[in-house]
Amino acid sequence: MIYYFSGSGNSRYLARLIARESGHELISLNIFFKDNCRFRKGRELLDCVKDLPLPDDKNEALVFVHPTYGWRQPRLITSFLSVSAGQLENRKLYFVATAGSGFGGSEKYLRRLCQDVNAEYMGLATILMPENYTAMFAIPGEEEAKQLIQEGELKAVRAGAAIKEGSRLEADSGLCRWPFILSAVVNPIFYAFFVKSRAFYADDRCDSCRICELICPLNCINMVSDESFALRPQWSDNCTHCMACINHCPTGAIEYGKASQNKRRYYI
Ligand SMILES: Cc1cc2nc3c(=O)[nH]c(=O)nc-3n(C[C@H](O)[C@H](O)[C@H](O)COP(=O)(O)O)c2cc1C
Ligand code: SF4
Ligand code: SF4
Repeated sequence: MIYYFSGSGNSRYLARLIARESGHELISLNIFFKDNCRFRKGRELLDCVKDLPLPDDKNEALVFVHPTYGWRQPRLITSFLSVSAGQLENRKLYFVATAGSGFGGSEKYLRRLCQDVNAEYMGLATILMPENYTAMFAIPGEEEAKQLIQEGELKAVRAGAAIKEGSRLEADSGLCRWPFILSAVVNPIFYAFFVKSRAFYADDRCDSCRICELICPLNCINMVSDESFALRPQWSDNCTHCMACINHCPTGAIEYGKASQNKRRYYI
């Protein structure tokens, strides 16, 4: 079974290819989280219905496809797998991570996670895709994004074939540089100081369509009336910075302080 979490669609797009290639069923963790889980500060799981759909056959591998946040797997994936530990025991776990530029020491943390939940680590596929962090980095142009997606597709198909055969996945060591500095030192600083929702706002381009509210996988957005009685999104501090809202808003009304102004949006 393949589970994906995705902000701007990169991981979902590749998860679909992997599912087609491997013949595994596909489950959206975005929808599962939205419907079943409550998070605090985008990572601490307050409660979560323990009925994650799992294959009856205990020998069937579980594949997690997700973006990279601060050179590791997103903290909400760590929290989620940790609370699902009882159901993951003795299962085989594969990981496919997407990133905009590099994976640092991601692999070490995924191995550790598997140890913690008593699951067998089956490897990590590292696939570069277009950067989606509108609140912090530049988003690639259309041509560059297209090229990255084409290369990503090939890697995803290869990963799907390996998963079907039951072979292990191997991370590309060239994309896993400075593991200690980036994943051990910078990651906690990044989460403590940068992953905040305070700077999000919607400007006059907002037409109250509610898509941002619907798309947020952690239910962080509520529509409230402004002084002229128009409905506008308001962000709670549960946000995990997945960038779905800002990249998917059909009118481009969402900004993250000044950091996102005049930047391209990216959503596949
Ligand atoms: C909060 C956040 C943190 C990110 N951190 C990294 C990172 O450490 N290294 C990197 O190469 N890309 C990083 N990115 C880029 C994404 O990992 C990358 O664009 C990914 O493919 C997005 O996948 P998605 O569309 O499935 O969410 C980050 C993006 C976000 C939103
Ligand atoms: S998605 Fe954009 S236009 Fe629609 S309600 Fe949200 S901010 Fe407004
Ligand atoms: S508020 Fe936006 S960035 Fe934050 S978790 Fe929801 S969709 Fe993602």
